[in-house]
Amino acid sequence: MDLFDKLEGRPSPLGPFTSAGYGYYTFPKLEGPLGPEMKFNDKDMIVWSINDYLGLGSNEEIKKIDTEATAKYSLSSPMGARLMTGNTTEHEELEKELADWVHKPAAQLLNFGYQGIMSVIHALVDRNDFLIYDELSHACIVDGKQLAMAEKSVFKHNDIESFKKQLYRAASKKKDNSSILVVTEGVFGMTGDLGILNEIIELKKEVPFRLLVDDAHGLGTLGHDGSGTGTQLKCQDGIDIYFGTFAKAVALIGAFVASEPRVIEFLKANVRSQIFAKSLPNPIVVTARERVKMIRNNPQWREKLWDNTLKLREGLRKIGYNVLPSESPVTPVLTQGSTELCQDIMRKLREEHGVFVSGVAYPVVPRGIVLIRLIPTAAHNDEHIEKTLDAFAAIKDFVMDATNKLSA
Ligand SMILES: Cc1ncc(COP(=O)(O)O)c(C=O)c1O
Repeated sequence: MDLFDKLEGRPSPLGPFTSAGYGYYTFPKLEGPLGPEMKFNDKDMIVWSINDYLGLGSNEEIKKIDTEATAKYSLSSPMGARLMTGNTTEHEELEKELADWVHKPAAQLLNFGYQGIMSVIHALVDRNDFLIYDELSHACIVDGKQLAMAEKSVFKHNDIESFKKQLYRAASKKKDNSSILVVTEGVFGMTGDLGILNEIIELKKEVPFRLLVDDAHGLGTLGHDGSGTGTQLKCQDGIDIYFGTFAKAVALIGAFVASEPRVIEFLKANVRSQIFAKSLPNPIVVTARERVKMIRNNPQWREKLWDNTLKLREGLRKIGYNVLPSESPVTPVLTQGSTELCQDIMRKLREEHGVFVSGVAYPVVPRGIVLIRLIPTAAHNDEHIEKTLDAFAAIKDFVMDATNKLSA
């Protein structure tokens, strides 16, 4: 069979969302300057779907820095991979600043979080090793696992007994030259709950292993200094390799890992997605340095983010919605229902109330569950929150009717 013909029948992980809702439920175009107020299909929207947690994406000072850095360096420069011709002092300084921020001695920049972490996992373990990861890990960890030569096992989400079982199993099979790498997340991005990092780290006393934490959603949002989930949970020292991306609170592109100097030195020579790829353009690196500095110097942004998060959540709960007990700004509203209900909720909020949210249903989550995910940011204000709560209140009966019909 022709490969291209076969592709037409191959299901996508997004199921009916992919083609039926193109441009609306998938690949929607939010237009106008980035921020909590944007246009969708020419209509004004209050947006709760972008991970610009600290509002940096709409910060005027940052926009100026971006423009100046681009004028100074051009987006082309430097050319080549870091290892060859793409290294600059700016890149090295940013690495030092990132390491300092997340309380680790060294860091390595990654062009993209997704490929970066995949490639880091691939580089870290060999065929004698064991890789243990949480079942709800982000796709980049799952894909990193596919690349890794190690023996893999998965533990039930945040279930310490399940983790122990996999850890003891690996320990019992270990040879002298075997090592164990455990991978989990600081914040699970769909549900907002934190990884059980302290419980996992405690088990290092019984079975030695190294821990890699993907803290994409924790960086900038958690910890007294924004250094993430490890700081928030007071266990940053127990995280052996810390991963953060610029794609969320830093509102940019790029990512990094931070660890001991010997590990970073090894990764710089072995992470294939960096060795064989062009390095980050200088304007990105320059603005990343400024953004990190600004995040560290402006803790009030994080306070505003949390203020907004708590107001939104409390309001949704008061109306009667089931807001999952998220410990991060990610605000998931759970209801029972079909894919159609999920689409109806998104459509009603957009068309009737000018509120833009994203939702997922089967096959992204188990059948019968609808998860509407709101991402509050420091750039939202009280009016955005009030209008959104009014909108959720207005569709409440519709949602309840659909849910009740399902369980009748
Ligand atoms: C938990 C998690 N890890 C990794 C990534 C990938 O990062 P990037 O967007 O920098 O490729 C994401 C999404 O951005 C994420 O949510």
